Amino acid sequence: MLLENKHIVLAVSGGIAAFKAASIASMLCKRGAVVKCIMTHNATAFITPLTLREITGNPVAVSMFDDVTEFNIEHIALARWADAFVIAPATADVIGKIAAGIADDLVTTTVMATKAPVLIAPAMNSNMFLNPIVQDNIKKLRDYGYQFVEPASGHLACGVIGIGRLPEPEEIVDYIELTACRTDRLKGKKVIVTGGGTRESIDPVRFIGNHSSGRMGFAIAKAAVLAGADVTLVAGTTDHLKTPVGVMRRIDVGSTNEMKDAVDSYYDACDLVIKAAAVADYRVAHPAKNKIKKSEETMDLKMEKNPDILYGLGQRKDHQTLVGFAAETTNVIEYGTAKLKKKNLDMLVANDVAAKGAGFQGTTNIATLLFPDGTVEKLDKMSKDELAAIIVERAAQIIDKKK
Ligand code: PMT
Repeated sequence: MLLENKHIVLAVSGGIAAFKAASIASMLCKRGAVVKCIMTHNATAFITPLTLREITGNPVAVSMFDDVTEFNIEHIALARWADAFVIAPATADVIGKIAAGIADDLVTTTVMATKAPVLIAPAMNSNMFLNPIVQDNIKKLRDYGYQFVEPASGHLACGVIGIGRLPEPEEIVDYIELTACRTDRLKGKKVIVTGGGTRESIDPVRFIGNHSSGRMGFAIAKAAVLAGADVTLVAGTTDHLKTPVGVMRRIDVGSTNEMKDAVDSYYDACDLVIKAAAVADYRVAHPAKNKIKKSEETMDLKMEKNPDILYGLGQRKDHQTLVGFAAETTNVIEYGTAKLKKKNLDMLVANDVAAKGAGFQGTTNIATLLFPDGTVEKLDKMSKDELAAIIVERAAQIIDKKK
């Protein structure tokens, strides 16, 4: 778990969304983080320190002068202890104070004293959030390097529908994970990741597709974001997967040709492509305009070859690093090595999609990494997240060597 033993300070300020801090703290603890909460006085009107203390197992401080011995010289000690500092929810008041350099309570003093990355999750009435003063304060803090979670839109406690809701706790916790764990390994690098399967239409209601869930590709996109890269995720059909937080842009595509157009349009400016998508090699030559009626006992479909996207990228490779996958059911290393060479790749991830715990759908995979110099790295069965982190690290090493 990425957040295992990470020190998170969760600061809660006084808005109706303060009750969600309990779920955020609980999810952080479940993901292995050590959580210490601090609150503004106003926050205690919405949720009690006792609730947060029971969830986190740590004392909760509200005042600069509380008798909480574990937080000796509270604000300085906590500020140093934090791997990430989160304010959720953050009111207009707290944001305004920090932007103005006012440190007059435990939350504002501690945030001012910390060198840890700070994540602020604003939650307030729409008009307040859109007020130019609040927007200026947010911009100022962003420019100083504070990170923000955009509030969600929907029904607000004040009765209106608009922007200003605190996003769901799971999303906030995903952002906290990114804030606490992001490295500079691929900072400044543009990465394209493909995931999911492509679909080829037979008629307006039917298609030819494959079993790809998108999990492998999405795990790679997340790992690349955690390595600090600017990630473009080209997604075919998936099991309705959410875009990993921090992905710069997601482009949803249907067919192989649509995937090719999306990848090609970002290729020249990118540094690394990782193609985990399961791509249809053939398409129906003449898809029917109307639904095909079931009149005959058999049906023939004439198929024509799709472009091989990765092969095309390999042909015009310049400074880019190219990582492909090979989904095989027999002779995995042999076929994988042939694809590595034919497509002019820097690394190939070969997986036996017929093996138990590998390939399509599940949360685990078993892969062998193949390199042009003949190096073969056999990996054990592991989660797709773990495998993704290894793939991204190996790709970063290849980029390092090219410097
Ligand atoms: O999505 P999941 O459910 O998590 O499953 C993961 C996975 C099994 C899909 C993944 O691990 C995987 O193996 N992806 C590659 C699937 C595939 O299309 O393999 P291939 O051996 O047919 O293609 C080789 C490489 O060329 C792949 O990188 C593929 O993206 C690319 N390709 C293939 C055909 C084509 N027309 N254009 C391509 O770019």
